Amino acid sequence: MNVIDAIKQRISIRAFKPDPIPEAVVREIMDVARYAPSGGNLQPWKVIAVAGVERDAVVALAKANLPGDEGERLVYPANLWEPYRTRRYKVGEDMYALLGIGRDNKPARFMHLAQNFEFFGAPVGLFFVIDKAMGHGQWAHLGMFMQSVALAALERGVQSCMQEAWARMRAPLAAHFGLGDHEMIYCGMALGYADTSKAVNSLRSDRAPVDEIAEFRGF
Ligand SMILES: Cc1cc2nc3c(=O)[nH]c(=O)nc-3n(C[C@H](O)[C@H](O)[C@H](O)COP(=O)(O)O)c2cc1C
Repeated sequence: MNVIDAIKQRISIRAFKPDPIPEAVVREIMDVARYAPSGGNLQPWKVIAVAGVERDAVVALAKANLPGDEGERLVYPANLWEPYRTRRYKVGEDMYALLGIGRDNKPARFMHLAQNFEFFGAPVGLFFVIDKAMGHGQWAHLGMFMQSVALAALERGVQSCMQEAWARMRAPLAAHFGLGDHEMIYCGMALGYADTSKAVNSLRSDRAPVDEIAEFRGF
């Protein structure tokens, strides 16, 4: 798979088959992703991968702690403004339309959101850990690492969904994994094999055109 194909083919998968991913494959994905760039080569990332009973324990932990709390590092700024507000709203509505869940069906929407905490059925969950003292630059670099994980996974036929939803479980997860006081979980990621029979996986999210996001000067 070439790089352009991989970037375009990576989509968020929200229904996985239960088939396990061999540890060797997950290790290989990490072995590739560690070549992601980072300012000063700090490599400000750590990953905790869970499968089997460890995955099940984390899922049970989340269930016991719903709805959870993001703490100080909010996933989105308060009162999101345009164009971001509309983009967020649109992808949500497109997804619920595929799932056949109407705007007023709050319980069904909640049930779908709660599936985040089962990794959407994926056999492997990843948690991305960063030192709390790191600044916005290092958080961006961690994002590059995460994208590298998603692309390397695709090359091995493994799909993903990045999951900031797990930010709500930061405190119980930190205690569960025995993280140091200086560490925090930024985000989770579901890894597995897509269940292509599920309508939710046919979601193709919009993107703003190049002229809306880029300026070309001096060409
Ligand atoms: C850092 C990050 C966190 C995300 N967290 C969630 C999440 O918790 N649950 C979810 O269903 N999707 C999550 N997403 C998926 C986004 O909604 C998705 O990337 C976006 O709508 C674009 O769609 P695509 O990934 O299919 O291209 C996350 C994406 C990123 C990059």
